[in-house]
Order: sequence, then structure tokens, then C-alpha cells
Amino acid sequence: MTQDEMKKNAAWAALQYVPRNTVVGVGTGSTVNHFIDALASIKHEIKGAVSSSVQSTEKLQALGIAVLDLNSIDSFSVYVDGADEINQHKHMIKGGGAALTREKIVAAVAEQFICIVDQSKQVDVLGKFPLPVEVIPMASAYVARQLTKLGGRPVLRQGVITDNGNVIIDVHDLAITAPVKLEQQINNIVGVVCNGIFANRAADMVLVGSADGTQVIK
Ligand code: A5P
Repeated sequence: MTQDEMKKNAAWAALQYVPRNTVVGVGTGSTVNHFIDALASIKHEIKGAVSSSVQSTEKLQALGIAVLDLNSIDSFSVYVDGADEINQHKHMIKGGGAALTREKIVAAVAEQFICIVDQSKQVDVLGKFPLPVEVIPMASAYVARQLTKLGGRPVLRQGVITDNGNVIIDVHDLAITAPVKLEQQINNIVGVVCNGIFANRAADMVLVGSADGTQVIK
């Protein structure tokens, strides 16, 4: 079974946790693209979606799913998104697709975060995947210096501008043993919009696709 087939299994398994007659929060990425396909199969049973990126919005709309403004909604039940890495505490690194800020915003409003991954995303310690940090462009050199002081090796992602008009710095060589603390420390650097550690708001449930089926971790 390919990695993409494992992603697809996890994505379709998420459908059973989507309450009907509600708004659904939708993340970004190749795993979520499978979830959007799955969501289209029940589109007449949901009230629409809140999207975390232009990419997901376009796919949702192309499949006939209404995309709602997050500011028009007080709360909703479930946010479904992938991850680049996830540990046993359901802390994640996200942002490989540069959508981390909107993902963190939509996740914050949701009552429940369901993370869908293939088994290759499970790690003991976060950080082998370079940590994405979204930065206001004029602050990129300053922020890079501060990230170096925290022990990382910052690399500006070439040719990428986020949906919010900012740049991404990928931080290599971090072994993130205290994700809750490091997430807060990086957020405190002036010029940082958001970082890809999702630990202060961890996932509530993880669906892990593998060749043996989909494992549910609550
Ligand atoms: C998007 O910015 C990311 O947070 C994705 O959720 C993450 O990179 C997982 O992507 P894939 O599902 O494509 O592996």
C-alpha cells in the first residue's frame, strides 16, 4: 500500500466522526484533499465548511461545498487536518503546505481537532521535519537570528508567499522536547505571525492510516 493510500484511508475514516447538520472545519494538504473528496459524498448532510487555505477553499467550492466566513460562526464541532509530524501527546508540527496560521485559527475555534495522518508521520520527538514559522517579510532576518539563538538553523523558504502575504522560515536541526514551551517562545519573537508547533492546542483524536487499516488514538 502506498503512502497516499494510507492517507486516503485515514481521511475517509474521519467521515464517521463528522456530525451531520453542522459546519465542518477543513485543513490543508494532500491528506485533507482526500478528506474533502469524502466530505463531498455527504455534502447534502452538512451546513458547509470553514476553510484554512485558498487551496482548500477552491477544492471545496469545486465540489459544491459552501465555504463560510469564520467570523460568521461562534463555534463548530469538528476540525479535520493533517500534520507533518505527531507525537504520542498529540502535539504536532504543521505548515509544510504554508497554511499554518489559518489552520491554527480554525483549529482554535473548533471544539474538536481530528488529525488524519499516515503512519510515517508518527515520531517520538518533534523536529526532524523542519519547523515552519510564518513571518512578516520585513522581520525575516531579525527573526532568523532569534531562531538561531533558540538552537535552530533557519532557512527562508524560497518562492513561497503565504495566503496572508508573509514568508515562511523553516527551522532545521531542532529536537523539540518541550513543544508547549517552544511554541510560546517562538510566538514571542516580534515579527513572528505564527509557528507550526501545535501543542498548546493539541489534537483530540488521531486517525493513523497504515497497511493494516486505520488506528484510532483518543
Ligand atoms: C499545511 O500547511 C500543513 O499543515 C499540512 O496539514 C501538513 O503539511 C500535512 O500535509 P500532507 O497531508 O500533504 O502530508
